[in-house]
Amino acid sequence: MSGATKIILNPRIQDYLLETADMTIKEHTRHFKALPLGMRVLFSGTLIVLGTGYLFAMIYVFESHAGRDGKPGLSVNDLIIAYSGSKTDTKLESALHGPMANMLPAEEKNKIIAWVRRGAAEADFKSSGVEGIIERRCLICHNGSNPHVPNLTDYEDITKVAQADTGMDIFTLVRVSHIHLFGITFIFFIVGLIFIHAYIRPQWLKCITLATPFVAILADIGSWYLTKVYQPFAWVVMISGALMGLAFAFMWITSMHQMWFYRMPPELIENDGRVS
Ligand code: HEC
Repeated sequence: MSGATKIILNPRIQDYLLETADMTIKEHTRHFKALPLGMRVLFSGTLIVLGTGYLFAMIYVFESHAGRDGKPGLSVNDLIIAYSGSKTDTKLESALHGPMANMLPAEEKNKIIAWVRRGAAEADFKSSGVEGIIERRCLICHNGSNPHVPNLTDYEDITKVAQADTGMDIFTLVRVSHIHLFGITFIFFIVGLIFIHAYIRPQWLKCITLATPFVAILADIGSWYLTKVYQPFAWVVMISGALMGLAFAFMWITSMHQMWFYRMPPELIENDGRVS
């Protein structure tokens, strides 16, 4: 015997081999419409609860930063004050303009601010009525029982927040960073895993949408620290937050729409609902 032996395959086996070879070149996933109903129900439930969570997160961000600069609404200046501090206001004042604004009536707020502006002297503390206001309005929460809420029980404690505002301290930033890095990765991994089943053309748009939140969270958290050094980084905080929100909204709306209200285009039907 000489020369190569030619193996003749059964055509069905040949087809099978060709098909599996093709699959190793390119994996596809199925479009929402080709998924079992139960899976779509599971996806929708997850998206609805995560979307509600996202709305609450945005309300929280707004409430804890808006108005710190004395003007209503959320601006880059509010973020600069939150992360790097304020040149003109003490921490007590920016808290009273911002997140603590609804804890007391305006005239009491002005009394406290006037006292701080007069130098926050101890002699003045009782006679101006500031001690009484703080006792009545603030001590329910600021009684020292929660280590993350500044203690305001005596004059000494209050002077700590009535000094120049240097923004969020590094330890607080580290604590919030690790919570955000873990939490947001989970959220966008889950939302991304659902969104993978959508049919989006061109494909790069799908990939950019999937990648944006991960790049944005790193830029966002990095800029909290960098804003302390160079204030214009507050813009990066603002823009990366907006990009994250946009990516979330786009993935949420597209997934929900394609899951329930979408008619597969002919090329997708021909392809047996395979998307990449
Ligand atoms: C319902 C509970 C509650 C009441 C009432 C309250 N605070 Fe707060 N306060 C908080 C919490 C929680 C934080 C920390 C979280 C944050 O920074 O938003 C905080 C943070 C602060 C800070 C630090 C802000 C910063 O940027 O680090 C100051 C200053 C402050 N409060 C002052 C006051 C004053 C003054 C009053 C009374 C007029 C008051 N708070 C009433 C819950 C409260």
